[in-house]
Amino acid sequence: MTMTIRQVGPCFAGEVSGIDLTEPLSPQDAAAVHAGMDEYAVLIFRDQQLDDDQQMAFTVALGPIEHASSNSLRAVSEFRIPETFADVSNLDKDQIPFARDDRRRLFAIGNRLWHSDSSFKTTPAKYSILNARSIPSKGGNTEFADMRAAYDALDDETKAAVEGLVCEHSQIFSRQQLGFTDFTDEERERFAPVRQTLVRTHPVTGRTSLYLASHAGSIVGWPVPEARAFLRDLIEHATQREFVHKHEWSVGDLVMWDNRQTMHRARPFPAEEPRDMRRTTLAGDGPTVEQAAA
Ligand code: OGA
Ligand code: MN
Repeated sequence: MTMTIRQVGPCFAGEVSGIDLTEPLSPQDAAAVHAGMDEYAVLIFRDQQLDDDQQMAFTVALGPIEHASSNSLRAVSEFRIPETFADVSNLDKDQIPFARDDRRRLFAIGNRLWHSDSSFKTTPAKYSILNARSIPSKGGNTEFADMRAAYDALDDETKAAVEGLVCEHSQIFSRQQLGFTDFTDEERERFAPVRQTLVRTHPVTGRTSLYLASHAGSIVGWPVPEARAFLRDLIEHATQREFVHKHEWSVGDLVMWDNRQTMHRARPFPAEEPRDMRRTTLAGDGPTVEQAAA
């Protein structure tokens, strides 16, 4: 069978059929997946039921990976899944949902703000690949926003205003917005802000995107309140429903998104129910600030 893609979102997001991801990915299929990502920016593979090894095999067949396990407040001794994964679940290592006021849970609630993965790292993530291993009885959808369409829809004055701007991103800024501020000195150091361009150009398609996230807390050379108000306006613009696709999960779904061209956010679900989501991540190819200067 050959792989086909049907668009399911308003201007992006494709549902893929005709591919079994439990099988090794052929070079042709890998090329088709990359081409699909370039075009749709989000790809949905339903009913794949991958285990950890299969998910990792699929991921490394697409390129070098980013180790994203250090992005959370989970200590190494509390890891539930391989350290090459980001554990996006609400579960401790005994598979029990975190208590409602558990610090690790409250930090992870930051995922409910619009963001792009690892924008708080100098070299941010390329693709994220999220596998639903168990889901709650209700809620817990993931929403995606097309940052290319959002850029295209800006008026000329705003396009000129964002050109060349550089933002500082940190998980401290995103958590601050939720009133989570009790970081240790070690965490403040680990989450020190990094710079990212506010506009990116896709290396293959040449399309321009806004590169935004709730992690962005300042614009270099701007007063902070003015920068935050501007960034808030841009996120509001970019996440209008006409640019957003909502994914309602079934167990076994694998959803992949291009962090260079999209934002995403998790939606709430009952705190006492398990939601076991496991993410592998493909590494970006360099700092955005250097890429823009090149
Ligand atoms: C992620 C993420 C959203 C969700 O895995 O990076 O933000 O719905 N996930 O769990
Ligand atoms: Mn994320």
